[in-house]
Amino acid sequence: MSDTKTPLELPPARPTTWSVDRLPWHELERTSVADDEMLFYMVATASFVEITTDLYTNNLLDHYRGAPPLLEWLVRHWQPEELQHGVALRRYVETVWPAFPWEEAYNAFFAEYAALCNESALEPSHSGEMAARCIVETGTSSYYTMLRERSPEPLLKTIAGHIRNDEVGHYKYFYHAFLHYAREEKSSRRQTMGALWRRIREANGEDAYVAFRHVHAFHTHRPEHVDEDYRAFRRNLDEALQKHFPFEMAVRMTLKPLELPAWAERTSTALLTPLARRFVAS
Ligand SMILES: [Fe+2]
Ligand SMILES: [Fe+2]
Repeated sequence: MSDTKTPLELPPARPTTWSVDRLPWHELERTSVADDEMLFYMVATASFVEITTDLYTNNLLDHYRGAPPLLEWLVRHWQPEELQHGVALRRYVETVWPAFPWEEAYNAFFAEYAALCNESALEPSHSGEMAARCIVETGTSSYYTMLRERSPEPLLKTIAGHIRNDEVGHYKYFYHAFLHYAREEKSSRRQTMGALWRRIREANGEDAYVAFRHVHAFHTHRPEHVDEDYRAFRRNLDEALQKHFPFEMAVRMTLKPLELPAWAERTSTALLTPLARRFVAS
């Protein structure tokens, strides 16, 4: 058996196809969205989390320091795109809801969130962390698909569509790197399933709640009502999830790193899609 490592080769990076300044801001139909509290929270909380990408990039870079092509993609494509998502969403919030002090609320959020992020651990193996990144990108691409469908406002639809496409692109790239490392490390389906499951369990809504709490405090000035308002937001969000969340796509993307035979993937998708829908509703 040879110990020689096959160098990581990645496909050419997908060029970024949009920029914040080139978005058609003049087409924004403010009146169709200004009173939509649910969209306000969806966009503002997402802007906080996206713009904070820097915070968790360094440990990821460190984990893959022996893989220059991946490092280069992370630094030159993935990170700037994630940041751009935050910048576009921030500008949308500041344009549609100018009374909301974005900067001040963000600083309060950051102080708490930074402490949480430092505790988050990466999967020890390279293939495991790539599988876990696939879960994160599955979550974000599904979220922006839902936001795009839920928005009655055309510019927000456009922005959510761009971000969604970027997130799907990130998924594909991470998946490509996953395949390489899974071969190199001879990782079993069981190990991959463990990595996928651990990252799914981490997505327990804590990040979303922290972001909501800070957005809420500066938006309503009645922080004592945060829990009751969060419950109302979650009820509305669950309704939007049932209507607009791409369950089948999310299940397919989640299963892909398991590299199941085609028939098993089809059967599992058919079985798990209604379960995922029911899980969200519970
Ligand atoms: Fe993003
Ligand atoms: Fe992403």
